[in-house]
Amino acid sequence: MEQNIGYRQAQALLAWQIELGVDEAIGETPVNRYDLAAAPPKPRRPATPASSPVAAADTDDPVDIARAVAAGAGSLEALREALAAYDHCDLKRGARTLVFADGNPAARIMVIGEAPGRDEDIQGKPFVGRAGQLLDRMLDCIGLARTSIDREQAVYITNILPWRPPQNRDPKPEEIAMMLPFVQRHVELAAPDILVLMGNISCLALLGRKGITRLRGNWQDVLGRPALPMFHPAYLLRNPHAKREAWHDLLTLQARLRDL
Ligand code: URA
Repeated sequence: MEQNIGYRQAQALLAWQIELGVDEAIGETPVNRYDLAAAPPKPRRPATPASSPVAAADTDDPVDIARAVAAGAGSLEALREALAAYDHCDLKRGARTLVFADGNPAARIMVIGEAPGRDEDIQGKPFVGRAGQLLDRMLDCIGLARTSIDREQAVYITNILPWRPPQNRDPKPEEIAMMLPFVQRHVELAAPDILVLMGNISCLALLGRKGITRLRGNWQDVLGRPALPMFHPAYLLRNPHAKREAWHDLLTLQARLRDL
């Protein structure tokens, strides 16, 4: 942009971008937006076809709408499409990609994490950064892998939030509430034998409670399935001494899989 702006204006512009969640430059060359033809404004929310489950719900409440569209999804692919079309969560506008799931949907184990970070946002897959690499090593220790085609050894992985929060901040309660119907439907459609709740946000969303230090290692019931809260691998990277408890929980998981 061939425009001279002062220090304060530049600082205010930078602060504004940071507030929006911008944390890196993604274009190789600068774009002079003054040269671009004015595009017609996009509608903020798409019109809802009268025959859709949302119209049937007849509501403006984002959580009710999420419930209706999630319930209307009859397959994992339909659920992914419903999420991609859901336009009521502002996180979607700040994220590059929808991070839906990775691994084998037929797996007996479904891991539910928190939200995509930078690497996941770029690659469009959950748990692919440093924490994800640790997760893969942890699963490998008990003979499980997201790449396995055998459901006995396979793992299916998703997150509570499918879009990266700006600067990896904690999700807000209203964001969790909007995404919960999608997560619940995701579990119903994948129908795993066991859920693993990775970290506090996953526990808050699905158990209504935080406090992973107390919750970890204790089986819970989530949507009629056994669910094991565990330390999040990102926490283990920051607190390596907690790997001892994580190892204990992995063995608990392995034993339950064998017995079920
Ligand atoms: N942490 C999560 O909880 N999920 C991811 O996908 C990556 C990091």
